[in-house]
Amino acid sequence: MMNETIENTRITVQPVTKSRINEVDFDNLVFGRKFSDHMFEMVYADGKWGEPLIKPYEPFQITPATNVLHYGQAVFEGMKAFYADENTVHIFRPDVHHQRFNNSCRRMCIPETDFETFIEALETLIKLDRKWIPKKAGTALYIRPFIFASDDLLAARSSDKFTYQIITSPVGAYYAEGFNPVSLTTTDEYVRAVEGGTGEAKAAGNYAGSFLPAKKAKADGYTQVLWLDAKEHKYIEEVGTMNIHFLIGDTLVSPALTGSILPGVTRRSVLALAKEWGLNVEERRISIDELFEAYENRDLKEVFGSGTAAVVSPVGLIHHQGKNIELDRDKPGEFAQKCFDEITGIQYGRREDTFGWVHKIGI
Ligand code: COI
Repeated sequence: MMNETIENTRITVQPVTKSRINEVDFDNLVFGRKFSDHMFEMVYADGKWGEPLIKPYEPFQITPATNVLHYGQAVFEGMKAFYADENTVHIFRPDVHHQRFNNSCRRMCIPETDFETFIEALETLIKLDRKWIPKKAGTALYIRPFIFASDDLLAARSSDKFTYQIITSPVGAYYAEGFNPVSLTTTDEYVRAVEGGTGEAKAAGNYAGSFLPAKKAKADGYTQVLWLDAKEHKYIEEVGTMNIHFLIGDTLVSPALTGSILPGVTRRSVLALAKEWGLNVEERRISIDELFEAYENRDLKEVFGSGTAAVVSPVGLIHHQGKNIELDRDKPGEFAQKCFDEITGIQYGRREDTFGWVHKIGI
């Protein structure tokens, strides 16, 4: 990969002298453990973003006083690039991801970034690290853009300096279950987000706060927590690593975006497809009691999650206050399967992209 030249980019590129790609077992990829040769970086200081740079992925120096270490002022995105053929890679809905990235920045008092630099950074990184894009079914190059407060500052206020980086990682399935049904539990003890808080931003701290409840759920034998609203502990919100959908009769019900739920890009895609296929689609508040009622009346046909990392993930069991909803625990439901096939079909270029969701990159 030495002496790689990338044309038509205003981004300065410092290529690696030796690739680390031989360290990767592409037949046994786990999620987020291996990182491609190059990374993007841009620094905000003195009221403006500086020059964009692509350089080798490597450790970097910060001081112990770096603001993000103390106050968690940081946002991120999760996106994927898919190997379509030997000449083409697809990025899924980068425009929508970038809008959400900027929305998260605004909420967290972080300066916004422009789309042109974002897309140019992605294209350049992907061309440089094209050999890192896995080819096997179910794999992708996960893209993690993030921005953190990088001032040396112990005062509890917004930083004046920020570091924007993009790293990429060849990944397999997010859950150990793969595309098999996962199990969820509610918790009476904790909440994920409150209205007016940071729940609809992809803010680093939202995730840190969910680790203890997730650890407890895991110890009790569940894959993840199904979060209920913080005020009444009644309405279903999301899973933290994915949004949630319910097929009740012939209606697809998804919790409305009330301000404490992350507006998922895959969620948006699932809802668009369901509408296109003529299903009734309702984005509304849905209580856990209504869900159990639908289950007891045999109206609850399927439950599944959606997310960039999780793609479409069937849910086989929901536990709430000693009671269980048990759906098919051995295989995905028909509708979840249909969504999975269509979305991954569009992502890998096997199905027609009628919505224009895919950004193609020639490699
Ligand atoms: C994603 O789906 O990309 C996420 O960001 C979820 C998780 C890996 C934190």
